[in-house]
Parts: sequence; C-alpha cells; structure tokens
Amino acid sequence: MVSKGPLLRLLTAINRRRMKLLVGLAFVAYVACESLQENGDQKVESKIEEVSLTAVAVCSVLKSPFTQKYPPVKFLSEKDRKRILITGGAGFVGSHLTDKLMMDGHEVTVVDNFFTGRKRNVEHWIGHENFELINHDVVEPLYIEVDQIYHLASPASPPNYMYNPIKTLKTNTIGTLNMLGLAKRVGARLLLASTSEVYGDPEVHPQNEDYWGHVNPIGPRACYDEGKRVAETMCYAYMKQEGVEVRVARIFNTFGPRMHMNDGRVVSNFILQALQGEPLTVYGPGTQTRAFQYVSDLVNGLVALMNSNVSSPVNLGNPEEHTILEFAQLIKKLVGSGSEIQFLSEAQDDPQKRKPDIRKAKLLLGWEPVVPLEEGLNKAIHYFRKELEYQANNQYIPKPKPARMKKGRTRHN
Ligand SMILES: NC(=O)c1ccc[n+]([C@@H]2O[C@H](COP(=O)([O-])OP(=O)(O)OC[C@H]3O[C@@H](n4cnc5c(N)ncnc54)[C@H](O)[C@@H]3O)[C@@H](O)[C@H]2O)c1
Repeated sequence: MVSKGPLLRLLTAINRRRMKLLVGLAFVAYVACESLQENGDQKVESKIEEVSLTAVAVCSVLKSPFTQKYPPVKFLSEKDRKRILITGGAGFVGSHLTDKLMMDGHEVTVVDNFFTGRKRNVEHWIGHENFELINHDVVEPLYIEVDQIYHLASPASPPNYMYNPIKTLKTNTIGTLNMLGLAKRVGARLLLASTSEVYGDPEVHPQNEDYWGHVNPIGPRACYDEGKRVAETMCYAYMKQEGVEVRVARIFNTFGPRMHMNDGRVVSNFILQALQGEPLTVYGPGTQTRAFQYVSDLVNGLVALMNSNVSSPVNLGNPEEHTILEFAQLIKKLVGSGSEIQFLSEAQDDPQKRKPDIRKAKLLLGWEPVVPLEEGLNKAIHYFRKELEYQANNQYIPKPKPARMKKGRTRHN
C-alpha cells in the first residue's frame, strides 16, 4: 500500500482548487488500482474500506483551506442591510470600522490604495459574501452602488502625510470631490473623517465645534490640516448646492491595535520603546497634556454620527487628559519594562494642552468614550508585542520615528 503522508502534504501545499481536486482524484484512483493489483487473497471489502478511508482523508485536505472561519456576523433583513463603502478601510481606524459594520450584518466594500493600510488588517473577511476589497486610489473616480460612504482615505500620522504633501492634498481634495460626486450620483450619505487638526494650534481649550481654528496655511502640516479643512468645505458645498447628506466627524487622537508601528505619535513611540528596552523619550519636563481615545470608542461614535440626523461637525475624542510623563510611567509599568525615562529639550511649538470638548456628541448622539485608558493600552501593548515578534521573524525591527518636525525639532502629538 502506498504511503498517503507525502501526497496529502503535497495536496495541502497546492493552492489552486481545481489542481488540488485533480491531484486528489488521481491519487484515489492510483490507490484503488494498486489495491486491486495486490495478492488476491485479501477480501474485496477490506480493499474498498482502505480506498474509502484514503478518499475521506483526501477530501478533508481538499476542503480544509476553503472552510475559512469568519467572525460572527448578524443577520439583517434586506430592508435593514446597507451597502457601505469605506475608503481607507484597510487602515487602522477603517479596519476596525469594517469589523463593526460586517459584524452588524452590512455589506462592506473597502476601497484602499494601501499607502498606509494593509491587507492583513482586513484579511479575516476576505472571501466573505458580504465583503469586498478593492485596490483603488480615491483620486481616481469610482463607480459603485452604495447607501453610505465612510470617507477615511488619507494618511493620518505626520510622518505619513508629510511624506508626499502633494499626494496628501490630492487625496483630501480630489479624493473627497470624487466621493461626494459618487454620493450625489447614487444618493448615498457621506461621512467625512475630518480631524482635530482643523483647529490647528488652538487658542481656546478645550476646542468645541464652533471654534474656527488657528492654522498656518503654508506650514509643513498644512497639506493635511488645510486639506481636511477644504474637504469639510466641499462637504457643505455639496450639501447646500446638491442636497447630498453629509456627516463630519472631527476625530481627535486615537490609539489601539493595528495602528502603525512608525506612527510617530506618543503612545506608539512609548510602547515600542518600552517593549524594546529603549529609553522612553520625553520632550521637555513632560507636563504637557494629551488625551487619547481607544479605537472602538471612535468606531461607535462614527457609526452613531452616520446614522444620526446631525449634519454639522461633531468632535469625537476622549477628554481625559494626562501628562506626557504620566503616559510614559503608565506604559512602562504596563509593559513591565526596565526602560528609563529620558528627558530631551522641549520643542518650541509643542502645545501645552490638547483636549476635545465632546458635549455636542454627548447631547446629540448620546455618545461618549467608555474604554478605560489602561484597558486600551493593554490591548495596544499586546498588539505591538505580537507585531514585534512578527517583524523579528521577518528580520525587520521598526524604530519609532520623530513625530513632527518644525524648525528641525520633534514634538509630541
Ligand atoms: N488615527 C487618528 O488618531 C486620527 C485622528 C484624526 C483623524 N483621523 C482620520 O481618520 C482617517 C483614518 O485614519 P487612520 O488613523 O486609520 O490612518 P491610516 O493611515 O491607518 O488609514 C488611512 C487609510 O487610507 C488609505 N489611503 C490613503 N490615501 C489613499 C488614497 N488616495 N486612496 C485610497 N486609499 C488611501 C491608506 O492606505 C490607509 O489604509 C483619516 O482620514 C484620518 O485623517 C485619524
């Protein structure tokens, strides 16, 4: 009797379904022939049983790669199920939003050019009947039938949006025009992922939605800040002139699993430094405050806003402020790291405070962040630890990059 082991391993290694089937059938036929040619005193039934067992083993190998398990998905009736487009859906926030909307039972199409997003972020949905992934740049027009558009496509962290400022501008301007044009054509509602950066270097604290901002239109961050400001302007022009339903979320700093290793912001920098046993670098005395929301809170806020009747801009962020030094000490403790905290000279334009005013979201959406900071940080640390292992296996250890450069100096974000 021929050994099944090597052939079953061969079947497992073959990727193409039809090829796998052919090799499997050829193998079963071979085993059957071989059995019949062997000495005739063995009973025919035992031969049949032997061939059947081989066939069952082959079938299980044939089936195994195609029985992918997906996270649980609710059933929604035709009436309640929406066709939802998420631009930038393979990125940090977009992939979590994809998870929520898929699990809620909607049909989700992710459009991404993979500039900062990764297929890995949404690979667990690939092949699901409600899910589609399209490699597309929003700077080019898109023709698709949808009910809602979450427009998130845009690099978000300073090193990424400063990498190619012209492309950042095109994505936020031409890309937003294209998505608004699509919304107008198909009668879809569009939610723009705007940012707290529209407030620039704010003169009021905390920032509420009525504040017009304080942005340098020709500074290094203008490609992003002004890009988002004009994207907001475009939304309201389409609303007033064409009757497109728009929602505008002004998102404040967000963290969680799937954020970029080289994001350059304080949470990811500190976690990476602590995990790699390097000093946690604090600029200035560390008394500046920052507020971070956990990604699941943001996703719930985005969905609540999209499905509300609030068309004016809404801040989504966590108002719980901590000093940079507190963040460093907490992350060091949660990682269990022996890293020291290193104080470097203070950056000139480092804001002393950043905090959202979320009274509008509370009042009109009934939304507020609920994930405690430590709980969120532990999830992010777990993710970064796994990512470092993954990267180490691929011989690449990322180092945190300086957050923002102005006059040649870094600053906290
Ligand atoms: N993460 C935050 O703290 C934060 C804060 C404020 C606002 N935002 C906004 O939220 C959105 C998502 O941010 P994120 O943190 O997930 O960033 P991210 O970089 O992880 O995701 C952005 C996604 O957009 C894609 N993309 C970029 N340019 C594109 C283009 N031209 N065409 C198609 N896809 C393109 C990227 O590949 C990526 O998948 C962004 O619009 C960002 O401005 C995020």
